[in-house]
Amino acid sequence: MSTLEGKIALVTGASRGIGRSIARRLAQEGAFVIVHYASRHDDAKAVVRQIEQDGRKACTICADLSSLDGINHLFLQLEDVIQAHTGAKAFDILVNNAGIGQILGVQETTEASFEEVMSINVKAPLFVTKEALPRLKDGGRIINISSFVTRVASPSVFTYSMSKGAIDTFTLLLAKQLGSRNITVNAIQPGIINTEMNAGTLGDPQGQQYAAGLSVFSRWGEPEDIAGIAAFLASPDSRWIAGQLIDASGGSRL
Ligand SMILES: NC(=O)c1ccc[n+]([C@@H]2O[C@H](COP(=O)([O-])OP(=O)(O)OC[C@H]3O[C@@H](n4cnc5c(N)ncnc54)[C@H](OP(=O)(O)O)[C@@H]3O)[C@@H](O)[C@H]2O)c1
Repeated sequence: MSTLEGKIALVTGASRGIGRSIARRLAQEGAFVIVHYASRHDDAKAVVRQIEQDGRKACTICADLSSLDGINHLFLQLEDVIQAHTGAKAFDILVNNAGIGQILGVQETTEASFEEVMSINVKAPLFVTKEALPRLKDGGRIINISSFVTRVASPSVFTYSMSKGAIDTFTLLLAKQLGSRNITVNAIQPGIINTEMNAGTLGDPQGQQYAAGLSVFSRWGEPEDIAGIAAFLASPDSRWIAGQLIDASGGSRL
């Protein structure tokens, strides 16, 4: 069943990895999807082609979200893009997915490394959402991509974990604030997923053993494992769920 027919979704960081899978799945459910990317133009175009091959519609939008200038640039384009492709002015679903990984412990952390991860993983979702709110329809959805590292202490990814902790709190605050508009806000906390972010770990037999060993299912996750959860949170069936942090780690370290 197409649960998102007539809906418009913006997925940040949808050129690859988890974002690509979410974009494709929301499109399969009937949404028109705006595939955001930072620099990988060809990858983003390929996602749109994939969606079109599925018989659905999508377009790309490019913006570096590490600065407010880049975020403003995203929203300068967004209204025109939505109107040109759908005739609408507002959209229904925001997925704050774009992010970067960073394998650094507390002792290796520098001001620059801190600012790099915080600007993309925390500042961007905050200001993207701030700009999105006047353009998001009442009854809409915000889905934030957090991480299971806010539950399972992982000191080797110190600032990264802190950045996702901020996303969990952001989710709680927004869910409370947006209830009056019937907008639900929830976060997904993936475990280790097979994307470029984990190319190092999953490219190495020891890393594979570690990643598979975390989950009760003895395997690491695939982007599609997360896309299905995002599709549910985007759907009308999730209307009574707000401010929740949904662990999607295959029961890692239960
Ligand atoms: N992979 C995991 O195991 C895992 C686990 C838990 C949580 N997560 C979270 O899930 C989300 C997606 O992760 P992933 O593994 O799918 O990542 P990925 O494959 O590395 O893809 C990252 C995406 O973010 C975009 N991006 C990177 N820097 C950006 C910037 N400065 N401005 C705008 N967009 C930018 C990239 O665009 P370009 O392609 O154009 O560079 C790409 O679309 C992230 O928030 C991550 O923290 C991942």
